[in-house]
Amino acid sequence: MAETTLAARPGTARDADPLEDPILPGAGGWMQGRRVMVTGAGQNGDLPGVGYAIARLVASHGGSVAVLDRNAEAAQRTVDRIVTAGGTAFPVLADVTTDETCGRAVTHAAELLGGLDGLVNNVASGDRAGIFDVTPDRFQELLSLNLVSAWSATRHAVPLLPAGSSIVNISSVGVRARGPGMPYCVAKAGLENLTEGAATTLGPQGIRVNCVEVGAIWGSFAAANMDERFREPRRKSTTLQKEGSAWDIAHAALFLLSEQSRWLTGQILAVDGGPARHAPPGPPVTSVAG
Ligand SMILES: NC(=O)c1ccc[n+]([C@@H]2O[C@H](COP(=O)([O-])OP(=O)(O)OC[C@H]3O[C@@H](n4cnc5c(N)ncnc54)[C@H](O)[C@@H]3O)[C@@H](O)[C@H]2O)c1
Repeated sequence: MAETTLAARPGTARDADPLEDPILPGAGGWMQGRRVMVTGAGQNGDLPGVGYAIARLVASHGGSVAVLDRNAEAAQRTVDRIVTAGGTAFPVLADVTTDETCGRAVTHAAELLGGLDGLVNNVASGDRAGIFDVTPDRFQELLSLNLVSAWSATRHAVPLLPAGSSIVNISSVGVRARGPGMPYCVAKAGLENLTEGAATTLGPQGIRVNCVEVGAIWGSFAAANMDERFREPRRKSTTLQKEGSAWDIAHAALFLLSEQSRWLTGQILAVDGGPARHAPPGPPVTSVAG
């Protein structure tokens, strides 16, 4: 039996340029008039980053984007792709590891965009060190980048965000991991908790806060931290037995940023191909008797 895949659907060429959206290329208008800052949205290497893909989708859906990154060339690459495709984007050069730089970046983004209705806290970094194998300085550094930066950016954005605005935090299925890379996982678990607390606090003023929990995608982040030989076991660890891409994450973030999700807040949406525990061992069920 032929496998039903997105690649088999007309108009979706998954093997085309990996830096272009393969799901709804160039479509939509969900973000018309919206102004969104995405942290860590610079593009590095040949594979799309999550922040890059989110910035591209927001722009292709009519929104304007502040592309924040500490790497000026990476930010410019994302901006160039958006502008070439007919969208609106500006680079915002900032290192988000201090509250002061986050504040300046948010103000600058709002000036460039003429206001702010959306914020994506995507920036992250990690390594495979165990929880007691890192120095106190490194632990603080990982917490600062992966958790505190989101709190800082959000706290500076809130006074500027009108009712109807949306904040999306990018977490990881690593929140349930208990092995290598624990400092990153601890920070991401905090980010999910922060999502729920911020949603509760900001709900009465009409600001929504949600989180996308990223699964085993193959993108610039994974490629930089992982050997290719882990790809097959990662694929097998999902219910759908497939690897995702940054575009799969970006479409979920797009939904959460848009009016389409206007009655949704405080949610942690796992975009992970389905957790392995939902796939019982044994042959596939292809028909139901009687
Ligand atoms: N790809 C995966 O397998 C995977 C899995 C789980 C979660 N995630 C999540 O996806 C998100 C990021 O993925 P990505 O693909 O965009 O990563 P990426 O590595 O492609 O991009 C991260 C960007 O952040 C920038 N950056 C790093 N430190 C910074 C700082 N201090 N200030 C400003 N910019 C800084 C980098 O220059 C880079 O451009 C993260 O939240 C990550 O935890 C990814």
